[in-house]
Amino acid sequence: MDSDAVMAPLADAGGPQGHGNVHVALAGVSKVFAGREGGQDVHALGPVGFELRKGEFFSVVGPSGCGKSTLLDLMAGLTEPTEGEIRFEGRPVRGEVPEGVAVVFQEDASFPWLNVFDNAAFGGRQMGIPEAELRERVEYSLGFMGLTDFARAYPAQLSGGMRQRVCIARAMAQRPRLMLLDEPFGALDQQTRLLMGEETLKLWRETGSTIMLITHSIDEAVLLSDRIGVMSARPGRFLDILETGWRRDRGSETALDPRYGQLQSRIWGRLREESLKALGASR
Ligand SMILES: Nc1ncnc2c1ncn2[C@@H]1O[C@H](COP(=O)(O)OP(=O)(O)O)[C@@H](O)[C@H]1O
Ligand SMILES: [Mg+2]
Repeated sequence: MDSDAVMAPLADAGGPQGHGNVHVALAGVSKVFAGREGGQDVHALGPVGFELRKGEFFSVVGPSGCGKSTLLDLMAGLTEPTEGEIRFEGRPVRGEVPEGVAVVFQEDASFPWLNVFDNAAFGGRQMGIPEAELRERVEYSLGFMGLTDFARAYPAQLSGGMRQRVCIARAMAQRPRLMLLDEPFGALDQQTRLLMGEETLKLWRETGSTIMLITHSIDEAVLLSDRIGVMSARPGRFLDILETGWRRDRGSETALDPRYGQLQSRIWGRLREESLKALGASR
């Protein structure tokens, strides 16, 4: 499938009333960063056109430096596209994180001066959720993430994996309709990573929110997702968008499905070439 095939005209996204099954719509989105100190401009992304469906688990894989974080930042309203348009629930995304969207960043974004509870409450406080309700939500989210016993601990007392769980609990306590996760498990060891993947699936099932997960792990993408977008080397575009066909109540047994291996090798086939290009460009 080429990028045109997955590019949907913006009209399909409809207005605020008529967006139907489409949760986020991107049309002709590209990002060029102006060169620093007279250096060359960096065409980081695009043009990209695709739609996130309401309630789906969508993963993005692509070679490093291809523009994945740039794509997520654009969808979160943290940066503005150079060209094109992004709509969340039918409304243009511009200049701020829309209500209903929560982001977990690639780097540890816990605040060292706040304890785990206050870290997890941070997003909800900013949204102005009443304290009693917020307390309930945070307690639930910390419980969900296995952090109840650490509510009074500070990030410095936690492992990297636990700090990342704090950030996921923070996003979860906001009860977002869309969660954008940027390689949240990138720094974790393999076992913890597998467990966190299972937790993310559970969270997705329980909350019903739409999830977009950026990952550099092909296995993780295949195991967790409804659909997987495979990106080209920079400037990142979608080369392929694959449906896994998994059931909603899937678990680790999907790894035994013959389709698992097929999806893996198809993605790797695409990515191998692109990763070589990315390597070549950085030499
Ligand atoms: N603020 C910025 N200014 C200039 N260049 C940037 C900026 N952010 C990212 N880039 C460049 O854009 C490209 C894509 O970056 P990024 O989206 O972080 O890639 P990925 O997340 O896929 O590794 C890289 O070449 C990166 O150096
Ligand atoms: Mg990144």
